[in-house]
Amino acid sequence: MEKDPNLLVGIEVSDDAGVYRLTPDIALIQTLDFFTPIVNDPKDFGRIAAANALSDVYAMGGKPLTAMNIVCFPIKEMDRSIMRSIIDGGLEIIHKAEAVMVGGHSVEDPELKYGLSVTGVIHPEHLLTNAGAQPGDRLILTKPLGTGILTTALKGKKLDERILGEITELMATLNKDAAEAMTEVGAHACTDITGFGLLGHALEMSKASKVGVLLYASEIPIIAEAMNFAAMGMIPAGSYSNQTFCAPCMDISSGIDPLLVDILADAQTSGGLLISVAESKANTLVQKLREKNTPAASVIGKVLEGPAGFLQVR
Ligand code: CO
Ligand code: CO
Ligand code: CO
Repeated sequence: MEKDPNLLVGIEVSDDAGVYRLTPDIALIQTLDFFTPIVNDPKDFGRIAAANALSDVYAMGGKPLTAMNIVCFPIKEMDRSIMRSIIDGGLEIIHKAEAVMVGGHSVEDPELKYGLSVTGVIHPEHLLTNAGAQPGDRLILTKPLGTGILTTALKGKKLDERILGEITELMATLNKDAAEAMTEVGAHACTDITGFGLLGHALEMSKASKVGVLLYASEIPIIAEAMNFAAMGMIPAGSYSNQTFCAPCMDISSGIDPLLVDILADAQTSGGLLISVAESKANTLVQKLREKNTPAASVIGKVLEGPAGFLQVR
């Protein structure tokens, strides 16, 4: 275990990135993320992977400064132009984040993978983690759920171009605007929704913050088509393992459609921010998110005194 007074967020808490204080005013946020393609278009894959990697800096309220490419590429089987398109896509999003690409590393690998290592900054006193949620807070989600189910449908060649375009743009959308709105208003806690799904990440927040979390099933924004594909059984394995992981610390009202629960547990790629904000500021934050046109701006639940580390879905 690392012990250093300047290590503000380390590996022992399940948070989004590591944070190290450089001076009383500046802390460094460091994160990396890479994965195999989830869409077929190389440039879109690059855009999505970059937005996903940058998200961990935004989830802490930080500002990304620099990014480095991580490329695993089957150079003997695939044309180099594919690698260039992926990196171009990544670069486009890095520039949207107002960060700079400073280098990277590529290795030969039979399985293509791409992502970024990102460095950002934050004032240590403004650092947000998943541990700051307070009883009475409202929980706000900034992107709709369902990309795991829909990319599974894509692999099964069941997705039409229109929905593919929609989820591609959704996943390539940076959490920059959401993070800026959150910083302007002042929030207590934040995390981004990725592999553990909304349920997993909300449960992590309730454990880290030692509070209870109540989610309002009917208020949670979902991509309309996700329900249909869930009904067709297009549910990624990760969704089931997320439900198994959460089950001992979760109570779901009996009236809730099991297909909706599958979506709440759906592993997201480049999902939105889950923000815990004081009740008195919740409306202002929703308004700011709407002004910035974030993909969603919904109050989806609230924080309870207890039971700590426990999730209820009503
Ligand atoms: Co994260
Ligand atoms: Co991450
Ligand atoms: Co190197």
